[in-house]
Amino acid sequence: MPQHKLGSGFGFHSTADEVLAGIDLSGKLAIVTGGYSGIGVPTTRALTRAGAHVVVPARRPELARQNVDAEVAPLDLGDLDSVREFADRFLATGRRVDLMINSAAVMANPETRVGPGWESQFAINHLGHFALVNRLRPAFADDVRVVSVSSAGHQHSDIRWDDLHFARGYDRSVAYGQSKTANVLFAVRLNKLGIQAFAVHPGKILTPLQRHMARQTMVDLGWIDEQGTLVDPTFKSPEQGAATQVWAATSPRLAGLGGLYCEDVDVAEPNNTEEKGWGVRDYAVDQESAARLWALSEELTSVHS
Ligand SMILES: NC(=O)c1ccc[n+]([C@@H]2O[C@H](COP(=O)([O-])OP(=O)(O)OC[C@H]3O[C@@H](n4cnc5c(N)ncnc54)[C@H](OP(=O)(O)O)[C@@H]3O)[C@@H](O)[C@H]2O)c1
Repeated sequence: MPQHKLGSGFGFHSTADEVLAGIDLSGKLAIVTGGYSGIGVPTTRALTRAGAHVVVPARRPELARQNVDAEVAPLDLGDLDSVREFADRFLATGRRVDLMINSAAVMANPETRVGPGWESQFAINHLGHFALVNRLRPAFADDVRVVSVSSAGHQHSDIRWDDLHFARGYDRSVAYGQSKTANVLFAVRLNKLGIQAFAVHPGKILTPLQRHMARQTMVDLGWIDEQGTLVDPTFKSPEQGAATQVWAATSPRLAGLGGLYCEDVDVAEPNNTEEKGWGVRDYAVDQESAARLWALSEELTSVHS
């Protein structure tokens, strides 16, 4: 499929509500992981305003209920038993999933191990979503769309096949990069397996995602001033940050397409230059890597497609 701009008519400044204008999601069910924080909040709200019933799996259900008016159910993506319980409870309701946006993630946290010693960013951002999507597959509508919320941060690392879990020393940015590359490869493979899927870079948005970054680091990077006010014009508002994932999940322009990486509410261009921050690396959309990661993820999680 062509990894090139479509000319969507939207762009950097478009918001989730603008993208959904004229799209009626009445009767549709959406699952939005992380749908109660950061760009997840305007994602949930915009889908709800367009008529969808939104289910928000939450590591902190009480906070989720405070933040969004949606159906909330407990889920910890770092705990595969919790993933199974969430999926079993959902499947028992007999409902159909029409769209799924996997927005939950951790970024650049100190070295943490989950499950059988897995590096936490790879485990939560990728393996948890891998298990969740595959367990929910029996409920997927024929025309379901799944969106992996990745990042331009994927440009920090390909999959580290020889040291997936950083046994040789942890680097928090590289670990985030690897997990975000995994998010893209996941969408590529899922699409190949017949479930329409996209990956997106939402843009840069000031959210709780940066909870593990020192405030001074953000000042030094020119993102915020000493008072904590956003001063970098290359950042988006949360409503703008939510737009690309909502577009990928719903746009009629993407009918018949899939396995593509999107940004600024359009399909992104390939970028294999030294420059970071825009476009997609070839290694993140490589079909062989996508198949290899899928097989490895099946083996690690014991969840099979
Ligand atoms: N913000 C940016 O600049 C930016 C840039 C590029 C890509 N992205 C991507 O955009 C997505 C959304 O980011 P955001 O900025 O909205 O971040 P955010 O505000 O931190 O939201 C992340 C969500 O993930 C949830 N989460 C974390 N660990 C979890 C776990 N183990 N189980 C279940 N849920 C878990 C968090 O729950 P708790 O709050 O309860 O921990 C939170 O609801 C992420 O995939 C991120 O990689 C963001």
